[in-house]
Amino acid sequence: MLVDQSKDNFHAMTPENIIELPNTKIILGDARKVLANIPSNTFRCCVTSPPYWGLRDYDIEGQIGAEPNVQDFIKDLVSVFREVRRTLKDDGTLWLNIGDSYTSGGRTWRAPDSKNTARGMSYRAPTPEGLKPKDLIGVPWRVAFALQDDGWYLRSDNIWYKPNCQPESVKDRPTRSHEYLFLLSKSEKYYYDHEAIKEPAVNGKVRNKRTVWQVNTEPFAGAHFAVFPPALVEPCILAGSKEGDAVLDPFFGSGTVGLVCQKLNRTCTGIELNKEYAQIARERLGLI
Ligand SMILES: C[S@@+](CC[C@H](N)C(=O)[O-])C[C@H]1O[C@@H](n2cnc3c(N)ncnc32)[C@H](O)[C@@H]1O
Repeated sequence: MLVDQSKDNFHAMTPENIIELPNTKIILGDARKVLANIPSNTFRCCVTSPPYWGLRDYDIEGQIGAEPNVQDFIKDLVSVFREVRRTLKDDGTLWLNIGDSYTSGGRTWRAPDSKNTARGMSYRAPTPEGLKPKDLIGVPWRVAFALQDDGWYLRSDNIWYKPNCQPESVKDRPTRSHEYLFLLSKSEKYYYDHEAIKEPAVNGKVRNKRTVWQVNTEPFAGAHFAVFPPALVEPCILAGSKEGDAVLDPFFGSGTVGLVCQKLNRTCTGIELNKEYAQIARERLGLI
């Protein structure tokens, strides 16, 4: 049974807060609090996509991404990933997908999204200090540098190129068709199976994987809306772990990382604040 999140024990590692599925454990609660209960050196890798800053309202107290100030958002992410680093094995890696956003251009409200009313924030976050209206904020790089300052090794800025990206009505800049997927490591030397993710080259040969990854976005029919495609997650799991290893996703959402782990014979721990999303993940993962 899932618990009422307003109760103090919501983040505790009690049986009511844990959904056990074959090879997958979903823990309900705020990633910052739940991770504190997980022993050090547990996971071989972490693959995750935190909420965007100021773009999505998951309508739940404690959510990350709704901070009024981008610096607070970055601080919140750094504190989550500090705990993630502690729970990683010394040769562990973090694969971090993170999206960017623009300052509001002076507007303080956001038009509702007619396709999904739960989707947009009802307000626009204020323009961060030092930026101007219409500026691209550069959230991914701000987060990447903050993580680097906090002790992570920043190893690769992979581009997720989305050929089927959402059209935009802008006329004064190109339509955005990419996001970042950073590879960070806990130590200088780390587990990375480059053979497992080689890509096709000319004359039937293969070559080391490149940093631009072309992957279509995939709509997911469940109530969750920012789902990343399994094809984006697969190379991260294949290079970042071996069969039987434990993988973490502290922003589990609809459980895509769990789905890929099931397919590739890894165990997965997912943390999710919103019990409705945890329920969606449970149903999605239970199908296999
Ligand atoms: C971008 S979505 C993740 C989507 C996921 N990758 C998937 O494929 O479905 C981010 C998730 O983080 C969750 N979240 C937000 N703040 C959180 C927090 N403090 N602790 C744990 N989860 C949180 C949201 O509820 C949302 O489901």
